[in-house]
Amino acid sequence: MEDETLSGSTYRKAIGSLTAAAAIALTVSAIGQELEPLDGNQLFIETCGGCHGAGGEGGYGPPVTANDYVDNATKLVLRIIKGGEVMPTFRHLSDEEIAIVANFVRTQLNENVDLIDAAFVAAQRDF
Ligand code: HEC
Repeated sequence: MEDETLSGSTYRKAIGSLTAAAAIALTVSAIGQELEPLDGNQLFIETCGGCHGAGGEGGYGPPVTANDYVDNATKLVLRIIKGGEVMPTFRHLSDEEIAIVANFVRTQLNENVDLIDAAFVAAQRDF
């Protein structure tokens, strides 16, 4: 199924390169000090893995592999921003962090190839 939210050329720049997801990194500077770039796997384990399993296999929360949410980037980002009935909101994460964790879920735990970026996340925030 064609995902129309990803039809723009902006989100197609890294198609075909799953390794590009691993290359996505956010360098955080704090008081002139370079910190480790944010890693999608690490971010997932820290923010999602406690409920969804370190490998997304499910636990307290449902698996985040092969479901409708991870096929649809908009739904996934909205789920992360707004939370669910039980799942807490992650709106405090930066646009970059949400993009990195969403890309990890979509490309590493699932088979999507389209990458989203911080601007895509920012466009989903309605507050
Ligand atoms: C405190 C536990 C908890 C954490 C942390 C958590 N979730 Fe969830 N998540 C849930 C629960 C419980 C549900 C299903 C019930 C609901 O709607 O709240 C859910 C549902 C989902 C769904 C929908 C799955 C489906 O098939 O319905 C997705 C996708 C998802 N979470 C992704 C994430 C991501 C990505 C993170 C990290 C940014 C995360 N969750 C963090 C508990 C959590």
